[in-house]
Amino acid sequence: MWTPTLFSLLAATTVAQYSTNTTLGPDANGKYQISSDGIRANFIPYGASISNLFIKGKDGVERDIVLGFDKASQYEGEVHPHLGGVPGRYANRIKNSTFDIDGETFHILPNENNNNDTLHGGPNGWDYRNFTIVSHTTDSITFSIVDPDGEQGFPGEVISYITYTMTPNTWKIKIVAMATTKKTPIMLTSHTYWNLDGFANPDTPLALNHTFSLPYSGQRVGADNILIPDGTILPNQKYSVNDFWSSPKQIGANFTSPDLYGNCGFNCTGYDTCYIVNRDQNGPYDWHNTGPVASLSSDWSGIKIDIYTDQEAFQFYSCGGQTGDLPLKSTQGVSGRPAFVQQYGCVVMEVQDWIDAINQPEWQREKRQIFGPNSPTYTLEADYVFSASK
Ligand SMILES: *[C@@H]1O[C@H](CO)[C@@H](O)[C@H](O)[C@H]1NC(C)=O
Ligand SMILES: *[C@@H]1O[C@H](CO)[C@@H](O)[C@H](O)[C@H]1NC(C)=O
Ligand SMILES: *[C@@H]1O[C@H](CO)[C@@H](O)[C@H](O)[C@H]1NC(C)=O
Ligand SMILES: *[C@@H]1O[C@H](CO)[C@@H](O)[C@H](O)[C@H]1NC(C)=O
Ligand SMILES: *[C@@H]1O[C@H](CO)[C@@H](O)[C@H](O)[C@H]1NC(C)=O
Ligand SMILES: *[C@@H]1O[C@H](CO)[C@@H](O)[C@H](O)[C@H]1NC(C)=O
Ligand SMILES: *[C@@H]1O[C@H](CO)[C@@H](O)[C@H](O)[C@H]1NC(C)=O
Repeated sequence: MWTPTLFSLLAATTVAQYSTNTTLGPDANGKYQISSDGIRANFIPYGASISNLFIKGKDGVERDIVLGFDKASQYEGEVHPHLGGVPGRYANRIKNSTFDIDGETFHILPNENNNNDTLHGGPNGWDYRNFTIVSHTTDSITFSIVDPDGEQGFPGEVISYITYTMTPNTWKIKIVAMATTKKTPIMLTSHTYWNLDGFANPDTPLALNHTFSLPYSGQRVGADNILIPDGTILPNQKYSVNDFWSSPKQIGANFTSPDLYGNCGFNCTGYDTCYIVNRDQNGPYDWHNTGPVASLSSDWSGIKIDIYTDQEAFQFYSCGGQTGDLPLKSTQGVSGRPAFVQQYGCVVMEVQDWIDAINQPEWQREKRQIFGPNSPTYTLEADYVFSASK
């Protein structure tokens, strides 16, 4: 039974009040555009997802560098790879679909690995739902969601606002979430898939030649073969397959190393890994200008993305699970090649907190992951800054 709170009433009724520019969309495909100098993007209410991101490469040609579908209506088909949305209320996996708060055990709905765990908030997680658009201007859009008490088994109501803003060459993300009635876990992210060539590189449809770095990530979260954290924090020793901190390297640089087999779960070669972001060794920092926590670039398009964030972990997935049946958009690809995403054709990069920390109390992340009516508001901020080599 859902009893609306003051906050939920506000979230549900603000749409008319704040929709400042009704000429702004949706377009014929159900998408809402925002833009600034050197950057334009489309979003949809389903999952508060980004569906297109257009950046000019070194040749001056605009590339659509994120995965998505051409039409908003396609997102509710059978395939749901969490394309560009905000998984919630708890991103990544929850061990045994169970957690404790103040001595009480909660069981939430499982949805992965024969129901051994919960992925991305459950079978009806946030990115399976339509958010409400509460504001839309030429350079900014804000979505909201009211997640009722008991939904997917989670305790208490959560209200969240997701704001995407474009400034010159930059995509800014700001997420706030309030637990209005009970203590509950909250851990959010933007689950965006990237190919910085827009799949138009005639030499390769893959992202293995993209160069990647994680300058603050000397450690990662250890996980079992279904990618559930096992409580260990592991060293990314210099020159090991998980070393992206000592210097940048191509994502495919270590694909012939036997060490990479099983690195992303059972029978999986590649990455699906939560890296720890540790900036404290340099003293007090402002996340806006300390960083980036991650950089990804492609020599072919010349496009580079630098990611700045207040978050303290970074999930990186090298698309080993893609099987060649997810279609590209009409804005992507190159003629003469199948218009589908191949295995290793993309990467997912997620700024977030330490995964499944709600089941690892010794990590002491409770203040960043358990929220209630008496605690501060959950927040996430990130700046994705784009540039193109000459
Ligand atoms: C509304 O959107 C149109 C089309 O992008 C733009 O020309 C106009 O300036 C916008 N108006 C306001 C008030 O932002
Ligand atoms: C997993 O959760 C179930 C209840 O959903 C419980 O009976 C079982 O003991 C838990 N298993 C482990 C290993 O914690
Ligand atoms: C999941 O749980 C079942 C028992 O319910 C078990 O047989 C299976 O091996 C577990 N693991 C995976 C990866 O499915
Ligand atoms: C989301 O909105 C679309 C367009 O209004 C609608 O067709 C669809 O049924 C909605 N989906 C959900 C899960 O509410
Ligand atoms: C990718 O990089 C490797 C070297 O790391 C190189 O051998 C290969 O030719 C490159 N492929 C493309 C398509 O650029
Ligand atoms: C991984 O690739 C880097 C860059 O080419 C190399 O220096 C390193 O030795 C490789 N590590 C392994 C384990 O193959
Ligand atoms: C391991 O994965 C490959 C494809 O990457 C597949 O062909 C093979 O059947 C898998 N093996 C097992 C034991 O699942």
